[in-house]
Amino acid sequence: MRTVQGTALDGLRARVRALGAEAPDRRTPAAPTFGARLRGFVRTGTPRATAAALSALRARRGDAPALLRTRSGRTFLVLLDPVDLDRFYAEPVSLLAADPPEKCRGTAAEEPAGIGCSRGELRAQRRRINEETLAAGVPVHPSYDSFLAAVAAEAPHLTAARTLDLVRARHAVHRAARRIVLGEDAASDEELAGWLRQLRGGRARSARGVYAKAHARIQRYAAGAGDDTLVGRATRRADPAGALDPLRQAHHWLLAMDAVPGTLLNTLLLLGAHPAEQDAAAAEAARGGDAGELPRLRACVREALRLYPVVPDLIRVTRAETEWRGVRYPPGTSVLLPAAFHQRDPERVPAAHVFVPGRWKNPDADQDIRIAPFSHGGGRCPGDQLGLMITAAFCAEVLRGHRLTAARPVLDPVGPLPATLDPGAVRITLTRR
Ligand code: HEM
Repeated sequence: MRTVQGTALDGLRARVRALGAEAPDRRTPAAPTFGARLRGFVRTGTPRATAAALSALRARRGDAPALLRTRSGRTFLVLLDPVDLDRFYAEPVSLLAADPPEKCRGTAAEEPAGIGCSRGELRAQRRRINEETLAAGVPVHPSYDSFLAAVAAEAPHLTAARTLDLVRARHAVHRAARRIVLGEDAASDEELAGWLRQLRGGRARSARGVYAKAHARIQRYAAGAGDDTLVGRATRRADPAGALDPLRQAHHWLLAMDAVPGTLLNTLLLLGAHPAEQDAAAAEAARGGDAGELPRLRACVREALRLYPVVPDLIRVTRAETEWRGVRYPPGTSVLLPAAFHQRDPERVPAAHVFVPGRWKNPDADQDIRIAPFSHGGGRCPGDQLGLMITAAFCAEVLRGHRLTAARPVLDPVGPLPATLDPGAVRITLTRR
């Protein structure tokens, strides 16, 4: 998964074009229907304002899909109704493709998103290797003991200073990620860490060259990797045609782990602002055991992701003509599900702007399509449970020896929580228990 920075609707400010909301019977015989009607005008600059703009749009025009144009001039068909969300997740990737250009820009040689940017049977096969290796949907990964040992070995980096911030969280998590994906020897490989940082930030002057160097290094570790590493598990799979490319998947997994540090920091920030939840989570951490299940802490992580999703907008591109509420859209239409908006939609989600980890006790909560920190359907994150396990385990390591006593920004536990958080600005003060 490559994280989209901010929302695609950030900076949506010029024109809101809503097609078909008032004319469901306006069937066009064929594409194109783009730009047929100019409906509204919204100026906004922040995701909060975007949420407000989407709410206002829905109040004014109903919840039919709306064509919106972003500041950069790209047009998206934005989904506002749960019925359409259902369809977004249910359609096969052969119709709603998970390889929008911003994710798959560049050439295959330098693009590590092996699964995200492959199609057809190849995508299906790569999806399978991802699901099996990462143990998608399985709360306790078969290699949980080595993965938890990796977290325990790296957690002291989090608590080595009195203040925990994103730099420290990234350092610890990425060291653990290299152990988990490639093996213990990779933990201290700062050169590889630097290449991955460059690729993640899109700062590499020559992405192809940096990718090749990282790839060669991953290959070296893979040659000696044990079965308790992700790359070891993946490379031992039968792959007669060599199409599964486990090394490329491993590269993707290392990059995907970048979802964890910010989530970890947000979860601890929220726990710091909710002392009763912090005490309960610390008690669970102290009890240990559970093979990393930590249900209470995992609920806190999920709730942090509901409030502050890593992927605020899910984007697909249609591969054929589609019809939404009686209006046809040509192939190549970008369909956007504003997950951050829906997860905090006060009209449909109770206590939408408040930290309520208890909502995740409901066994069906994970399948609730209004809330999608890991997406749903054929594009759902295959590292969902692994990501939860690692994040919750890091939280537990911190809470076992420390209390979270102060934090910036200061959150109001009862008031509406801020729409967004800048993980780079979060500072958490740790006090020894
Ligand atoms: C807190 C942790 C994580 C979050 C919030 C998260 C979130 C997501 C989301 C929302 C997607 C779907 C994106 C879309 O539909 O456009 C996704 C895809 C993906 N994630 Fe994660 N992820 C996390 C951790 C991980 C980890 C640890 C791994 C692997 C080690 C991973 C591997 C993947 C892969 C391979 C995909 C692409 C799936 C596909 O295209 O079928 N993720 N992730």
